[in-house]
Amino acid sequence: MIMSSVFYRNIGKTYPTAVRSEGMYIFDETGKSYLDMSGGAAVSCLGHQHPRVVQALCDQVQTMSFAHTAFFSNQPQEELATLLAGKFAEPDAKVYFTSGGSEANETAIKMAWQYWHNQGAHSKQKIISRVHSYHGNTFGALSASGNLPRRRDMGDLLIEWPRIDPCYAYRHQHENETLEMYALRAANQLEATIQREGAETIAAFIAEPVVGASLGVVTAAPGYFQRIRQICDQYDILLISDEIMCGTGRTGTFYAHEQESFVPDITTLAKGLAGGYQPLAATIVRSKIHQGFGGTKAGFAHGHTYVGHAAACAAGVAVVQCLDDEDLLTNVRTQGTLLQNALEAEFDQHPFIGDIRGRGLFRGIEIVADKATKQPFPDARKITAKLHQLTMKHGLICYPGGGSEQDGLGSHILFAPPFILQEEHTELLIKKLSTMFQELFDA
Ligand SMILES: Cc1ncc(COP(=O)(O)O)c(C=O)c1O
Repeated sequence: MIMSSVFYRNIGKTYPTAVRSEGMYIFDETGKSYLDMSGGAAVSCLGHQHPRVVQALCDQVQTMSFAHTAFFSNQPQEELATLLAGKFAEPDAKVYFTSGGSEANETAIKMAWQYWHNQGAHSKQKIISRVHSYHGNTFGALSASGNLPRRRDMGDLLIEWPRIDPCYAYRHQHENETLEMYALRAANQLEATIQREGAETIAAFIAEPVVGASLGVVTAAPGYFQRIRQICDQYDILLISDEIMCGTGRTGTFYAHEQESFVPDITTLAKGLAGGYQPLAATIVRSKIHQGFGGTKAGFAHGHTYVGHAAACAAGVAVVQCLDDEDLLTNVRTQGTLLQNALEAEFDQHPFIGDIRGRGLFRGIEIVADKATKQPFPDARKITAKLHQLTMKHGLICYPGGGSEQDGLGSHILFAPPFILQEEHTELLIKKLSTMFQELFDA
């Protein structure tokens, strides 16, 4: 056996080598096919090898792959910014392009700090986030993340910022409370935290409108984000909507916040934005935030070599045009409902499936040891790791995760299939999941 020189994500694990992909499938070097029901991690929104995106990328690479944006703008970055700003609720939004979700959120956090700094509000520095959240792996973004399993090994190196509970009705809604009452109670935690910390110390609040990897696709209760918006306005706190996973059409509207009826000050997109054809992310800001950097102000002190990369933006333009021209968000909404119905029909009565949920083609199931108490399996059962092994064994790519309960306990599976999903793929998913669950729980 030849020794690999790769420093793998998981040391000691062996990975099959992916050699080819097409539509809903990835193939490894043995010819085994994997049904891609999570687009990796909510990335491949168009499926694999979409000819229009491949062609657009080849054309751009042949014409001009890269020209540093400290010296030049480029046509794909201009075109993609216009497309994204055009889909935003307010006129004159501005778009800053980076290469991945962590960079987009790092950019958002630095924008928030510098925005207040430029106004003389030097003490507005803290970023409030939520207990179950993931905003990226760079220092600022990980500091703002609540995801315990992902923070644990960083010791006390991360910045300690305040956090509030997520809006997670399955676990936190009281019995005698309507969803609307619960939404208000959950959102008011933000106000209490701001009052405790002092609004003059807070730069921004960051949240995912639909929580992805940290909770296994949890939508907020109705009215939650509207109340959050009110609180942010009242206390002069910027609202950052992390749509790295749930944006770019994943939940059935281009921006996930559209369905929550609020306008964020800063929105971040990545993953589906270039559909995996290139690494690409975007930080989209309201006009008033952009104006906070102009005129006599010092500008935005930030930048990476690949900001506004021409080839990456060309892939982004092609992806967004495909979403529009092929009317794929209609399929996201239709197939999303069918996927939810199929999961419920098969697993609602399953003794270890506690909740089936989500929006559009962003769905999750939460696994519990006891349906009545919602008690998760103990860590020692290694449910999440076993699920991962089983999915690969059965030729299925979905995204098992942990930590949906307090202290990092809990297991869930996230589904974020390409927007070209058809019923036959959902049927195959259900078959594979049923076999996997038998192997997992009967063991
Ligand atoms: C909501 C959210 N924000 C940020 C990130 C970080 O993105 P990246 O892995 O591209 O740096 C992720 C990645 O999964 C994410 O799900």
